[in-house]
Amino acid sequence: MGTPRPPATYTAQPYTRPATVSADAPHRGAPGTDVSPDTELGPTGRPRRHIPEPQPPSHQGPATIIAMCNQKGGVGKTTSTINLGAALAEYGRRVLLVDLDPQGALSAGLGVAHHDLELTVHNLLVEPRVSADEVLVRTHVENVDLLPSNIDLSAAEIQLVSEVGREQALGRALYPMLDRYDYVLVDCQPSLGLLTVNALACADSVLIPMECEFFSLRGLALLNDTVDKVRDRLNPKLSVAGILVTMFDSRTLHGREVMARVVEVFGDLVYDAVINRTVKFPETSVAGEPITRWAPASAGAEAYRALAREVIHRSGR
Ligand SMILES: Nc1ncnc2c1ncn2[C@@H]1O[C@H](COP(=O)(O)OP(=O)(O)OP(=O)(O)O)[C@@H](O)[C@H]1O
Ligand SMILES: [Mg+2]
Repeated sequence: MGTPRPPATYTAQPYTRPATVSADAPHRGAPGTDVSPDTELGPTGRPRRHIPEPQPPSHQGPATIIAMCNQKGGVGKTTSTINLGAALAEYGRRVLLVDLDPQGALSAGLGVAHHDLELTVHNLLVEPRVSADEVLVRTHVENVDLLPSNIDLSAAEIQLVSEVGREQALGRALYPMLDRYDYVLVDCQPSLGLLTVNALACADSVLIPMECEFFSLRGLALLNDTVDKVRDRLNPKLSVAGILVTMFDSRTLHGREVMARVVEVFGDLVYDAVINRTVKFPETSVAGEPITRWAPASAGAEAYRALAREVIHRSGR
């Protein structure tokens, strides 16, 4: 039997390339980038693009909000939210992480005892009098704050359904916080329901973590449709920040084939930073630490630092 092919819809370019990527970000051969023909190939199979070392934040002002989103479960959304957040903080960025998943894995992964919390993102969404400051938790990672969640959040979709402006509840709650941060990363649950739509409705962009596995390609068309609808109806500025390939194993033919297909379909949207499959990540969840602190010299920590450099470069701050 031959290698299964992704569905026909992927022969067309399914994403509207965001202006930040096509206009500003360097890509292979773009003027001003240091890609020469003999440049070393990265794990994506392309020459690595030159990303400058981040300088101190270029401007103050409202944070860039990035929704970490993929309705497929277990693809590395939460792991990437924690570790990208910690890596951005290492570069001097002030980071707010938002746990928008009733599983509370983001909160747990940062060592926050979320089951016992009196106020969580749930209160923020359904009780307008509760302010984000009352819910905010300082994590043990310098420059990383958290709006935590627990299972209470599972009631929010039903409670919000009859509200006017139900898709903007998160945006309203976050608005007063934005001047204090450079980046807000929203860890979405594995669904495209109302909570995820709330994240997309207030985000500047969507970062899509994608497990390097054949069936992962399939759900991306649906995610793309949702992003398009939210952009048309609720949030014209929404763009796709990029696609992060996670759990990559370059030793397998399958891994390399899926990677080649992802790059063929999504082109420059695919980050050069790629996260390899390693047991270190499950270990960090148990430790309640980002990998940048748990194993600072590991390849995983370096990969998330490389992602942070690309995110800073693409977003220009
Ligand atoms: N690069 C990696 N290598 C190995 N294991 C990983 C990697 N990234 C994440 N994991 C592990 O895979 C599992 C799922 O990861 P994670 O919770 O980040 O995914 P998710 O997309 O947030 O899941 P969910 O959809 O349930 O919210 C976790 O046990 C995590 O420790
Ligand atoms: Mg998760």
